[in-house]
Amino acid sequence: MSSSGSAENAQTRPGPRHIAIIMDGNGRWAAQRGLPPSAGHKAGVERIRDLIEACKDRGVEALTLFAFSSENWQRPSKEVELLMSLFHSYLRKEAQRMREEGVRLRVIGRRDRFSPRLAQAIEEAEDMTRDGSRGNLVIAADYGGQWDIARAARCMAEEVAAGRRSPESITERTLADYVQLVDLPSVDLLIRSSGEQRISNFILWQAAYSEFYFTDTLWPDFGERALDEAIEAYCGRNRRFGGRGRGGLAAGA
Ligand code: IPE
Ligand code: IPE
Ligand code: MG
Repeated sequence: MSSSGSAENAQTRPGPRHIAIIMDGNGRWAAQRGLPPSAGHKAGVERIRDLIEACKDRGVEALTLFAFSSENWQRPSKEVELLMSLFHSYLRKEAQRMREEGVRLRVIGRRDRFSPRLAQAIEEAEDMTRDGSRGNLVIAADYGGQWDIARAARCMAEEVAAGRRSPESITERTLADYVQLVDLPSVDLLIRSSGEQRISNFILWQAAYSEFYFTDTLWPDFGERALDEAIEAYCGRNRRFGGRGRGGLAAGA
């Protein structure tokens, strides 16, 4: 994850600076093997280390992973417990390595529903990697895109109530400063594994102009090759952002 160019209309598009992934399909991967979902979640976590490396090698500056949605609390309690414990051990095991590799980790989402032990592990991992300048890893946990936007609106409403801002100053440009990921390059490529084609309350605001890429590959099978296929698809897209863009109808038409 390092810097790369961003000439949006070049013939050969540079690779994505920020990739976000909905890591889906652990349950089906396990079911195909006659195993419980926990086996799929364990296999899924194992993909992450290599993926960070692969992104770094490809000049990706930020990788945002959807690990646990605000709706995933509805899963059976045993599954939720396992996911929390995997998250905890991941942070404990990987934070030191990320620090050594200069990767800055942050976790986005609600914190108040995690156990104090997990909340502390998150804080420690973030503190430990704070100075990382060679890439960003964002883990979205107890995250919902609607929560993110509502939280931003609440922060701004508090400023209005305190007399520090006018209601008229709330626009799409100013609200953008209050949602998560504001300090990172915008999400260029949003990947979802497992064949589902929906956003499931992930980054609703930030994905306004992301390129979407869906693959049938189940998350525990998602490796470098799948990543390259997604990046290749991205590089072939014509991003127009509402304008004409390259190769579109003649500008004067
Ligand atoms: C994604 O895998 C992981 C989480 C949602 C935490 P799933 O567990 O949703 O896998 P499927 O969709 O059942 O295959
Ligand atoms: C989305 O997957 C959340 C994560 C991958 C963390 P889900 O499996 O929870 O989504 P739905 O229920 O199929 O929409
Ligand atoms: Mg799923």
